[in-house]
Amino acid sequence: MQALKVRRPAPSPTLHRVAVCEEWDVPLGLGRSFEIAGRLIAVFKSRDGMIFALDGVCPHKGGPLADGMVVGRQVVCPLHAYRYEAHTGACDSPGLCAIDTYPVEVEGDTVFVIIPSEGSPHPPSAAGGRRSR
Ligand code: FES
Repeated sequence: MQALKVRRPAPSPTLHRVAVCEEWDVPLGLGRSFEIAGRLIAVFKSRDGMIFALDGVCPHKGGPLADGMVVGRQVVCPLHAYRYEAHTGACDSPGLCAIDTYPVEVEGDTVFVIIPSEGSPHPPSAAGGRRSR
């Protein structure tokens, strides 16, 4: 089995690395939601095994994004099918703002999400999710 290389962000007093689940807790093509430090965050696994994290609430009408499906590198909201890019949070529907994305690390079988401290308005940039084994 090949070891997974994990790149950690530089230590920061405003970021926290939170263990949210085991890699197999998130089914292929679907998501799971987690409340982390007062934020509802949806963790997804694409069909090719990429794990990524986005805000868990759709800004359109509050749909639960973790109940949506992953299509390619997009998450489809289960209520009205708006789509969000996995790594940028950009929405495919004009006039709707992007949602926040969060860096993910997979170490061993554990999935970590990097989140800002409570009270910090901006999440760290999610340059990309991490592929599971
Ligand atoms: S609530 Fe998500 S698209 Fe309408």
